[in-house]
Amino acid sequence: MEWPEIKGTKILPASDPRRAEEAIRCAATILQTGGVVAFPTETVYGLGADARSATAVQKIFTAKNRPGDNPLIVHVTGMEQVRELVREIPSRAYLLAQHFWPGPLTLVLPKSDLLPAVTTAGLLSVAVRVPDHPLALALIEAAALPVAAPSANLSGSPSPTTAGHVIADLAGRIDAVLDGGDCRVGVESTVLSLLAVPPVLLRPGGVTLERLRTVLEEDIIDLCRNGGEIRGTPPSPGMKYRHYAPSAPLYLVEMGEGQEDRIIALLKDLQARGMRPGLMLTTETAGAFTFPSHFPLEVVGSQKDPKTVARRLYGALRRLDSEAVDVIIAEGLAEEEMGRALMNRLRKAADRVIVAPNAKI
Ligand code: TXA
Ligand code: MG
Repeated sequence: MEWPEIKGTKILPASDPRRAEEAIRCAATILQTGGVVAFPTETVYGLGADARSATAVQKIFTAKNRPGDNPLIVHVTGMEQVRELVREIPSRAYLLAQHFWPGPLTLVLPKSDLLPAVTTAGLLSVAVRVPDHPLALALIEAAALPVAAPSANLSGSPSPTTAGHVIADLAGRIDAVLDGGDCRVGVESTVLSLLAVPPVLLRPGGVTLERLRTVLEEDIIDLCRNGGEIRGTPPSPGMKYRHYAPSAPLYLVEMGEGQEDRIIALLKDLQARGMRPGLMLTTETAGAFTFPSHFPLEVVGSQKDPKTVARRLYGALRRLDSEAVDVIIAEGLAEEEMGRALMNRLRKAADRVIVAPNAKI
């Protein structure tokens, strides 16, 4: 079968049911022969390679320009496949898997000797998850191997939620992308370390802290409060990098008293200085003003619906970038439920945070 290519990267159209099976078979063969393939998950697109092969995994780091000390998540189809990757599975891992797998929860466990050092960046632990996307599961199943996969973007830029985003960043740098349309969740998985008791939240994501606490009925240490500023050696290497950022500087205006006024004052100040700012606003705030017709504005959903905002976040940042704005002003949301993951990403992307008056810092 001939597939379309962009700069030598194959485009495998898996949303077309007539071609999905062949597309998956092609992607699986690439994984089995040591290549790298981007594929959709429910959170964001991942860039996959055989987790057991040091040379294959090294290609992921090269394609993304990813620092070698940032470990990868290994994707599997279920707990049976986790067994060979880890030294032990604590009972709370079974409980969490029962509730949240397949789904956007990544568990950090003590690793076995099966995986090469490059996959876990030399750590003695491994992060594992079962993605909740039929194409991701079909691909892992067909390849019959554990798939190491970070988000399929250039290191530091917003994660991809469409095959188009993957192509924009990685065409010519990877073997293929399995095109499965838009991702449903839009932000990455929650990363929870089970290496110690109580468990430690390393990254808020698709499964909320509130839901984890309800299921575990025990405390969880939240290392990500207030954007997760970590001093010294971070327990999860990914915490220390600037992340998820568009090329334009991002100014985040925190939720709180006078937020709308603070956004408009900032906008006017930047315009007065001859700059071209773009805005990322909720429906409520955008509705309170009228903007000129070609104004670079992304309306990402209601303040009451952070799940929709999460799904649109990275696409909105990429579109504002493509409009060549000088600065992106982003409206902050409440830091609860899915808003926690959203604000974590925005804080990491931000060059400046305009704090709410009376905020407890
Ligand atoms: O939703 C997701 O998690 C997506 C999709 C593709 O599954 N993947 C993803 O991967 O976001 P990545 O590489 O962009 O983020 C993985 C995060 C990083 O912050 C990394 O430091 C952390 O997980 N991590 C991986 N292995 C770890 C380990 N052994 N200990 C602590 N943190 C780890
Ligand atoms: Mg990433």
